[in-house]
Amino acid sequence: MEHIAIIDFGSQYTHLIARRIREQGVLSKIYLSDIPAHGLLKGKAIGIILSGGPQSVYGHASPKVDPDIFDLGIPVLGLCYGHQLMAHLQGGEVKPGAVREYGRARLEVRHAQDVLSGIPSGTVWMSHGDSVTTLPQGFIATGSTPDCPIAAMANPKRKFYGLQFHPEVHHTEHGNAILKNFVCGICGAEKNWNVEDMIDDIVTNIKKTAGSRNVFLLVSGGVDSSVAFALCTRALGPDRVYGLYIDTGFMRLNESEEIKASLEKAGFKNLHVLDASATFYERLAGVCDPEEKRAIIGQAFLDVKNQTTEKLGLNPDAWILGQGTIYPDTIETGATRHADKIKTHHNRVDAIQKLIDEGKVIEPIADFYKDEVRTIGTLLGLTHAMINRHPFPGPGLAIRILCHDPKQKSPLPDGERVRVRGEYTILPIRSVGVQGDNRTYAHPAVLTGELDWEALDEKASTITNKEKTINRALLLLNPSNKPAFRLPNGGRTLTRDRIKLLQNIDHIVHQEIADAGLYGQIWQFPVVLIPVGHAHFESIILRPIVSQEAMTAHFFRMPQDVLAAITEKILATGSIDTVFYDITNKPPGTIEWE
Ligand code: XMP
Repeated sequence: MEHIAIIDFGSQYTHLIARRIREQGVLSKIYLSDIPAHGLLKGKAIGIILSGGPQSVYGHASPKVDPDIFDLGIPVLGLCYGHQLMAHLQGGEVKPGAVREYGRARLEVRHAQDVLSGIPSGTVWMSHGDSVTTLPQGFIATGSTPDCPIAAMANPKRKFYGLQFHPEVHHTEHGNAILKNFVCGICGAEKNWNVEDMIDDIVTNIKKTAGSRNVFLLVSGGVDSSVAFALCTRALGPDRVYGLYIDTGFMRLNESEEIKASLEKAGFKNLHVLDASATFYERLAGVCDPEEKRAIIGQAFLDVKNQTTEKLGLNPDAWILGQGTIYPDTIETGATRHADKIKTHHNRVDAIQKLIDEGKVIEPIADFYKDEVRTIGTLLGLTHAMINRHPFPGPGLAIRILCHDPKQKSPLPDGERVRVRGEYTILPIRSVGVQGDNRTYAHPAVLTGELDWEALDEKASTITNKEKTINRALLLLNPSNKPAFRLPNGGRTLTRDRIKLLQNIDHIVHQEIADAGLYGQIWQFPVVLIPVGHAHFESIILRPIVSQEAMTAHFFRMPQDVLAAITEKILATGSIDTVFYDITNKPPGTIEWE
């Protein structure tokens, strides 16, 4: 069938490109970068998109593509790394940029033709260190940003186009129109794909994958696993799908009871609840490293599941594991060939990967994004409340409680100390980020000042673009004369007291948000506990974000009165020294801190 071929170089967004094209009603397929050119023709590709990726085109091990794709007579669009690779293979030059760009930038459109036809100048989303510095022959520069003179290029005669920015991410203004120009205009694709067909396909696939086997499905109460449960039940019938909700002890206040009630109300019959908090607490005691925590949690889920199936006497050959994994879980764990590992999602730890390789796992929605899953859930008749719950990560509050091990060495030359540099202070802790498709683990900068969101957004981008040791920016919400951001001498680990403290504060925050009528405007709202301060050595970070599919995000601009009320209530608990507001977009920060 005619389609758009996407060649994957390991970008965090490759799947998103496919998804945006499907939104246009056009079939798209993702290929590994070693696909020969004739293979694309045989598969009836009518256009080629070269994805982004974490490497440099001049790196000796960087992924390349069969150069013959440029002789097929098919239009080619290169994005980010793909844009640089096209320039490199066509005789242009790519070099490390003087200024790296992560997040928002302003594109000046110079030639509003072809892919940029009808596109005005405006905001685009960038994530790159290298830039095209010399155009290949036959190309013209069609757009630029202040830090990237060749942000868009075109060879209209041969229908080759390159964009340094990402039109596929939601935060690029007119991104969909740009892709539509390429797919429908330049490639002439027909609209013949829709979401209803998707459900039939998924159900058919579940039947095929399961065969005569049954599904033991881990459910969390969130939209993903609920949709996976509903799909498996539709495909196999309720007796062949056993749902297990594992209470890890890292859920929100009263959440387990609420989830059980809502799943029962939604009509999930074969559902069982197990309190495994003792196992999770015990295994995580004293563990500080974020990736180590994630690996332990993923393994604990699997062990608890195995103990349960054993207790129930279920034949392991007759029952396969079901998970509500969605696409960002896979891509951020580095599951595609060239992608960097950003963080290990709990449903992608090694032991589960092994089961996947053995064909013992079923993940009906692994190719989809959260908003698509919500659409499928609506079509399946799940309740509005269940579908619109904020996402909550499998590892729960365990990855929102940062720990401190005084024995751990810091990569910073002057140690894990508070440092004041110019107009900001650098905190002595680190969090995970994603920059140029790579994982970062760096420090946050703390800013003080007025609640001018536009100015703060700009400042945050400037700092994280320039400073390699900083991947986030925070606004201090309770400035005092002598703010002190020190780490506790004896260190801090994951204790029951700290879990309880965060559960209470998270509850306060979410209550305020609901009362202010803001729940629906915020996509997700992590509340993070960090071992920093001057008296209690505990501080809170508020991280409300707006997103569409979790691959990119913008920090939420909260009304000042709501923010003041939240801060006051948190400080009134008497257990918190400082409250910060995370003003980092994704990239360069991730949504969660660990
Ligand atoms: P990040 O922090 O990578 O998060 O920007 C993207 C989305 O994924 C959620 N998340 C997880 N979900 N298991 C999950 O089920 C995990 O291990 C996990 N880690 C992050 C996160 O809450 C956000 O919605």
